[in-house]
Amino acid sequence: MEGMGSYRDAYRTSITDPERFWADQAGLITWIKKPRQILDSSNAPFYRWFPDATLNTCYNALDRHVAAGNADRTALVYDSPVTDTKQRLSYAELLEKVAAFAGALKGFGVEKGDRVVIYMPMIPEAVVAMLACSRIGAVHSVVFGGFAPHELAVRIDDAQPKVIVSASCGIEPTRVVEYKPMLDKALELATHKPGACVVKQRPQAPAELDQLWDVDWDVAMKAGASDPAACVEVAATDPLYVLYTSGTTGKPKGIVRDNGGHAVALAWSLRNVFDVHEGQVWWTASDVGWVVGHSYIVYAPLITGATTVLYEGKPVGTPDAGAFWRVIDEHDVEALFTAPTAMRAVKKEDPDGELLKKYDVSSLRTLFLAGERLDPDTYQWAASTLGVPVVDNWWQTETGWPIAANLRGLEPMEIKPGSPTVPVPGYDVRVLGEKGEPVAPGEEGAICIKLPLPPGTLPTLWGDDDRFISSYLAAFDGYYLSGDGGYLDEDGYLFVMGRTDDVINVAGHRLSTGSMEAVIAQHPAVAECAVIGAADPMKGQLPRGFVVLKAGATENPDDIARELVRMVRDEIGAVAAFRDVTVVGGLPKTRSGKILRKTMREIADGKDAVIPSTIEDEAVLDRMRPALRPAP
Ligand code: COA
Ligand code: AMP
Repeated sequence: MEGMGSYRDAYRTSITDPERFWADQAGLITWIKKPRQILDSSNAPFYRWFPDATLNTCYNALDRHVAAGNADRTALVYDSPVTDTKQRLSYAELLEKVAAFAGALKGFGVEKGDRVVIYMPMIPEAVVAMLACSRIGAVHSVVFGGFAPHELAVRIDDAQPKVIVSASCGIEPTRVVEYKPMLDKALELATHKPGACVVKQRPQAPAELDQLWDVDWDVAMKAGASDPAACVEVAATDPLYVLYTSGTTGKPKGIVRDNGGHAVALAWSLRNVFDVHEGQVWWTASDVGWVVGHSYIVYAPLITGATTVLYEGKPVGTPDAGAFWRVIDEHDVEALFTAPTAMRAVKKEDPDGELLKKYDVSSLRTLFLAGERLDPDTYQWAASTLGVPVVDNWWQTETGWPIAANLRGLEPMEIKPGSPTVPVPGYDVRVLGEKGEPVAPGEEGAICIKLPLPPGTLPTLWGDDDRFISSYLAAFDGYYLSGDGGYLDEDGYLFVMGRTDDVINVAGHRLSTGSMEAVIAQHPAVAECAVIGAADPMKGQLPRGFVVLKAGATENPDDIARELVRMVRDEIGAVAAFRDVTVVGGLPKTRSGKILRKTMREIADGKDAVIPSTIEDEAVLDRMRPALRPAP
């Protein structure tokens, strides 16, 4: 690691003396009670950062910038090509809205620790709702708008919200998606019922506010504005939000984020990983429903006092593949963070970057990509088209901020295509073999992080400490299991090769094949099924379903396939992009009955599949091969 002076020093201190390292970084935020204790390990593996400190996250994101004389600085730029709207909100204006909505939430009886589910498109009200919750110590749980009623219902039942905040519709390039009927359906399915559902009416498809608990957003805001809420003091260890993410089963995991560690980690990472500072314009083209949106659309830029761009549109089709370049030009964006799939979509429509020539993108210093593997082709195309460093970073909903990255603010390093570069300070990344032994450089294994995890990472799963242990900590004693496989090279660069479990990544969206299988298994003609994530040149991966029909099933297999596609779309959502079903005679299994999904995936991806010696009947697999890997 020649030349990695600042990085090496910071990294070493963060691992050998994490308390000193994070005590130094704690000064990046404003505390109500400053931390005297940095890390509480007394209840390991449930570590707690800054256990005796108190703060308010919303105060750090808004009030302190206004108090410091930056009331007029733009906090949020809303750019919505799908509604032809552009709006700028200063720190003072955003604060006023947030305090009013926080007042409204209090009016509905929401108190510190109560949950609020937010099911909204990419509109400023989504950010206002999140910050309003943090202002009064309520715990928000944002559900991505592309999820169908059933998925929303599961999250409502788990989070038990006092209030749900939604909008009448979201706008996709080709259609208006009515959210309110989906919310109503979810509440029919859910056992838990909220006290109020606040709905932002949008002119593209106003909703019927016909349920007992329905309230118009504007009415709620008016009431809140007459009694705006002040910031509530919370413990650093109190939950700020719960964000559900796909695990390997149908039941999503409620990732808990605390207040103090989160604020410190985001303030540190925006500066040191992304090199973005107070007053600079930063754009994360993702969605507030994902962790990337929570951390880098909302909290990190606002805590830092930067300007964040909230973009309601797509990389292509709104209206064309020049959309990203227009936004950079118009708002003088200095750094853009998005998913590799967005770049692949642009590349497909405009391979020679012709549309780029229409815009002045000279403000852009860096392009950051994450959410899925950055393949070298996409890296090369983006780097040569834009002429700026293209920086991969690897992390997960669980960690909330990058585990491996090129630390542009701390010490920019040589980029190796295919690698997100090195472990970020705070993360003691180890690659382990099957028995938990460290493997040699260059050798693949399970990517793990030695405990304790740094501040800002999940302290547990919502209401389920046991699942936290069994999912992440049980595989290797003293380590967090990331679920990704990969290797460290001789220079300490990490290469992430993909999930080792049944989580898949479709256009940067994390999905569970287990939950799709659970939907498919409900079909009366299906005896058994397997869903795998197969490589796709545009979306990274796409789900493919293989089903075995019950003996005596008389329905036409094509009709069954169509019904299954519809069922997954209706129950999980369009975002699953589940369109490919094949009826097969049998599924390959081990002698103990475990379906060989990994082997199926390897064959589908055209790799040399390793056939486990425990296979029950290799002939079943051989019969399936043509379906798995159709001739090109
Ligand atoms: N609300 C409702 N529906 C949504 C939605 C939302 N918030 N987001 C996506 N959908 C729907 C889409 O309309 C589409 O529906 P369709 O099957 O009727 O066409 C489906 O879900 C799949 O959407 P998407 O994954 O966006 O694929 P796409 O083919 O429409 O667009 C890309 C492809 C590459 C342009 C798009 O995936 C993209 O912008 N990706 C960036 C990924 C990203 O930001 N990931 C976040 C992690 S960093
Ligand atoms: P999510 O929790 O939705 O952020 O998804 C996390 C998963 O996405 C990781 O476990 C990886 O499998 C994948 N992922 C995210 N970023 C990267 C990256 N830079 N390189 C490779 N895989 C990534």
